[in-house]
Amino acid sequence: MGNPNLLQVDGLYKSYGDRKKEHSKRQYAIADINLSAVPGEFLTLLGPSGCGKSTTLRCIAGLEAPNLGKISVADRVLFSSETGVSMRANQRGLGMVFQSYGIWPHMDVYKNAAFPLLVGSRSSRPPAKQVRERVERALEVVQLSAFAGRSATALSGGQQQRLALARALVMEPPLLLLDEPLSNLDARLRTDMRFELKRLQHEIGVTTVYVTHDQSEALAMSTNIAVMSNGKVEQVGAPSEIYTAPASEFVARFVGSSNLVVGTVSSASGDDLVVKTPAGVVTATSQVDLSPGSEVYISIRPESISLVEVDNPSPELGEWEGMVEGTAYLGMTVEYRVRVGDIEWTVVSSSEKPLPVGTVVRLEFAKHGCAVVPMAVK
Ligand SMILES: Nc1ncnc2c1ncn2[C@@H]1O[C@H](COP(=O)(O)OP(=O)(O)OP(=O)(O)O)[C@@H](O)[C@H]1O
Ligand SMILES: [Mg+2]
Repeated sequence: MGNPNLLQVDGLYKSYGDRKKEHSKRQYAIADINLSAVPGEFLTLLGPSGCGKSTTLRCIAGLEAPNLGKISVADRVLFSSETGVSMRANQRGLGMVFQSYGIWPHMDVYKNAAFPLLVGSRSSRPPAKQVRERVERALEVVQLSAFAGRSATALSGGQQQRLALARALVMEPPLLLLDEPLSNLDARLRTDMRFELKRLQHEIGVTTVYVTHDQSEALAMSTNIAVMSNGKVEQVGAPSEIYTAPASEFVARFVGSSNLVVGTVSSASGDDLVVKTPAGVVTATSQVDLSPGSEVYISIRPESISLVEVDNPSPELGEWEGMVEGTAYLGMTVEYRVRVGDIEWTVVSSSEKPLPVGTVVRLEFAKHGCAVVPMAVK
C-alpha cells in the first residue's frame, strides 16, 4: 500500500501460444517487463516494430492474459499470476485509443463519445444527466463541442482522432492507454496533434502510457521513455537522459541516429575518460566507472559535431580528418556524410555556408556531446 506510482508493472511475461510448454521453453513476446508511472506522468513505450509495445499495453488493458507478473493501477491489483487475480478489461476502467480508432460511422459525434457510458447493463449505466455532462465535458476538452450533432464520417482525420480520445476520456479513467494513436495522420496533422494531445493530457492530468515507434514523437511528448527491444525494456529515463546518455548500443542507434565508434579507454580521471578510437582520440564524460583498457562505444550525435575545413590538407590525413562524401539540403540544416578512415559519419550543421562534396574537413566535438556507451556484457 501507499505506492507513490499510479501504474506499477512487475516482471511481466507474455507468450502467444506455447501455453503447454514450460517457462524456460516458451518464446516470449515480452519478458520481464518492469515499468512504473507516477500520477500525471506521460510514459512512452518506444521501440521498433515487433518489440512488444502493443503486447505490453494490451496486457495492462486486460486484452491479453500475461503468463507471469503483476499489474496494479492506483494500488488496485488488476493482474497477478501469484495470487491468481485477472480482472476483465471492462472491469479495469481504463481509457484506450488504438491505432485504428474505430469510430462508429452510423452515429453522430455525441453518440460516439457517449457510447462507452451506454454499453453494459442498464443498472450499471450512469444516470442520463451525468452521461450528458460527462460527454459534453469530454467533447469540450477535445474541442469538438461544435460538432456534436455531426455525423462521425463527416470529420477530418484529426477530428476523428480527437473523437476517439473523447470516447476514452468520457470514462474519466485513472490511466489512459494510447497505442500509436497518431499513426493514421499526415505529417503536418501529426505534429499538430502532438501538441494538442500533450496539452490535453497536461490539462486533465491523466496518467498516460503512450506507444510509438517514432522517436521524435517520444522525445517531444514524454515525461519518461521506456526504450524497448526484442521484448525487453533496454532503458527508462527522461527524454534528455535517453538522448544524451544512452545506456546501450541499441538505444544510441535507435534514438536519434547516433554515430557510434568503438574505442578503448586510455586514461580516466573523475568523470572524464580519454578514449582511443581508429579515427582519433576523444575526451568524453562517463557516469560509469571504466578502467583503462576497457572497450566502449562512443556515441556522438550528428548535431554535436562541427566541421572545420582543412586548408592545404596533407595527403596523409590527420586525426579526425576526412572528406565530405555527400550532402543533403534540409532547409534550416544540411546533413553531411563524412568519411574518416573506414567510418562514415553523419553530421548535421546549419545550412548557412554549406560545404561541397570533396571538401577535406576535421571533425570537432565538445566533451559533453560525446557519450560513453558501455558494451553489452556477454
Ligand atoms: N496475436 C498474436 N499471436 C501471435 N504472436 C503475436 C500476436 N500479437 C503479437 N505477436 C508477436 O509478438 C511480438 C510483439 O508484438 P507486438 O504487437 O507487441 O509488437 P509492437 O512493438 O507493438 O510492434 P508494432 O510497432 O509493429 O505495432 C511480435 O513478434 C509479434 O509477431
Ligand atoms: Mg503495435
